[in-house]
Amino acid sequence: MIKLDNRLAAIAALVRLDKRICDVGTDHALLPCYLYEQGARNIIASDVNENPLSSARENIARYGYTDIQLILSDGLKNIPPCDDVIIAGMGGELIAEIIEGCAFITPDTRFILQPMTKAEILRRYLYSAGFGIMLENGAFSAGKAYTVMLVRYTGEKCAIDDSFAYFGKNTDERYIRKVNSQLEKLANSSPELRSIIREETL
Ligand SMILES: C[S@@+](CC[C@H](N)C(=O)[O-])C[C@H]1O[C@@H](n2cnc3c(N)ncnc32)[C@H](O)[C@@H]1O
Repeated sequence: MIKLDNRLAAIAALVRLDKRICDVGTDHALLPCYLYEQGARNIIASDVNENPLSSARENIARYGYTDIQLILSDGLKNIPPCDDVIIAGMGGELIAEIIEGCAFITPDTRFILQPMTKAEILRRYLYSAGFGIMLENGAFSAGKAYTVMLVRYTGEKCAIDDSFAYFGKNTDERYIRKVNSQLEKLANSSPELRSIIREETL
């Protein structure tokens, strides 16, 4: 049985196993292998670099889950239509760029996103481009707090305020504490951000 850390487990929990799944920037392909083990059968593992793709290939062969399709692709450029698109472990700006390049969005397409940095830029992009965050969960792994978003296209474009850009829909206390300390630092050069710090968790 593949054991995922809390961050990858929080991502896996939002994936629909009976849909066409793509893990963009799969690296080791641990997540696709886990999803296969859980019963998913239509899975693409993709990466822009050959090295991660060959370590993905080795893992897939080691587990014997050779139905998982491996595709070399910059973002979604070479990816056929999928229903659940996972983009995890990258910066928020890169995730936004990859979504911007998606050619197969329907009302049923879901994005499971886990930005390592710049989540506020990703949230601003999503709402300005007509996407909405359905839910956002916290994950705590190796001493770090993460956010995992479930996103779909709504067609409604809007601007979001600073508070929503930084915290999103995540109510996990450890994530809020992490964003608070990020805001403390940013407030040195942008004092207006001090007002959105969530004092109750300090
Ligand atoms: C830090 S790893 C994250 C691996 C895995 N998704 C996770 O969350 O554990 C980032 C991976 O994204 C890949 N990557 C970076 N830019 C990419 C792009 N434009 N398209 C596809 N993959 C990309 C890298 O090659 C690397 O394997």
